[in-house]
Amino acid sequence: MLLLGLETSCDETAAAIVEDGTRVRSSVVASQHDLHAEYAGVVPEIASRAHVERITPVVRAALREAGVALADLDAVAVGYRPGLIGSLVVGVAAAKALAWLLRVPLVGVDHVHAHLYAGLLHEGNAAGGDTHVLFPAIGLVVSGGHTSIYSMESPVALARLGATIDDALGEAFDKAATILGLPYPGGPAIDALARTPGANDHAHDFPIARLARDSLDFSFSGLKTALLYAVRGVPGPGGRATPPVLTERDRADLAASFQRAACEAVVLKLRRALAGLRVRGPCRSLLTGGGVTANTRLRAELASFAAGEGLELRLPPARFCLDNAAMIAGLGHALLAAGVRHGLDLSAVPTTSH
Ligand code: KG4
Ligand code: ZN
Repeated sequence: MLLLGLETSCDETAAAIVEDGTRVRSSVVASQHDLHAEYAGVVPEIASRAHVERITPVVRAALREAGVALADLDAVAVGYRPGLIGSLVVGVAAAKALAWLLRVPLVGVDHVHAHLYAGLLHEGNAAGGDTHVLFPAIGLVVSGGHTSIYSMESPVALARLGATIDDALGEAFDKAATILGLPYPGGPAIDALARTPGANDHAHDFPIARLARDSLDFSFSGLKTALLYAVRGVPGPGGRATPPVLTERDRADLAASFQRAACEAVVLKLRRALAGLRVRGPCRSLLTGGGVTANTRLRAELASFAAGEGLELRLPPARFCLDNAAMIAGLGHALLAAGVRHGLDLSAVPTTSH
């Protein structure tokens, strides 16, 4: 079964062809980073206009790369929530038009849930393996807009256990990068600076928000403020701060210390969540996704956490961690198999389902 997936929730216009739910035949992503860089963040109106211009060529490229004709498609899946409303409507309108034209089923997919599906995808002729053995699973999404932990009975039966109460982790990385004068998007820039040889990740004892004893929620605003004060100085009476003079080495230490605290916060809450889940039953794997799972340090820490806990880890390659449409087509396939279909009245929704 061949699905076309479309993704336009934020600043990437993406289309993909996925066969039988897990085999990625093509995945095309047109990033808009260059359009938003000068604003150090995504400008919604610019994003929606760029989606309108790019969606048709991106779909064409995905079909061409997969060697597939429109008439070969069995269904169309689209990320319809959550995201920027003006961006989402472009993908939803395109998906509805194609599903109507081809007389094939349409399925709307939650973008955050789709990030958890990324680890089930595979490319080339390698067999994908039986994904049933991965469940029950614990899921982690860390992206520019979301930071959540899930318990998962299957890719389509999941419950959110905790989420950020302020900044998403990727947002915190992006703001930290701005504070350090690094380019947007900041996550990869912090990652690179933190890898400077000799960078001391314990140079600063930045806060790790534990929240209540049994809380599975995250908070990154304290960490961000601590970095801000370390770079710009602590405001004294009257709000004046004297910024310290920072060497390149100091900046690398700041990035490494920020990244260590951020990663420790993620693993701390995952450990808590897993302990709670295992009281109730088995947990076989850790499914991860979202742009921040491309982070070098987080990947290493998730690998050692999963190994220590006896969890099979599904850590997607970077291109499937970041926003893409293959994860949308994959989860769309699983939803169709579970009997989910949407009509041509499908609307874009800015919020996640849970
Ligand atoms: O999943 P994604 O592509 O978009 C959303 O759904 O939000 O995630 C984008 C986020 C950005 O905040 C970006 O800075 C962050 O992922 N990111 C990283 C890295 N690569 C991307 N954060 C830390 N380290 C990285 N290597
Ligand atoms: Zn995303």
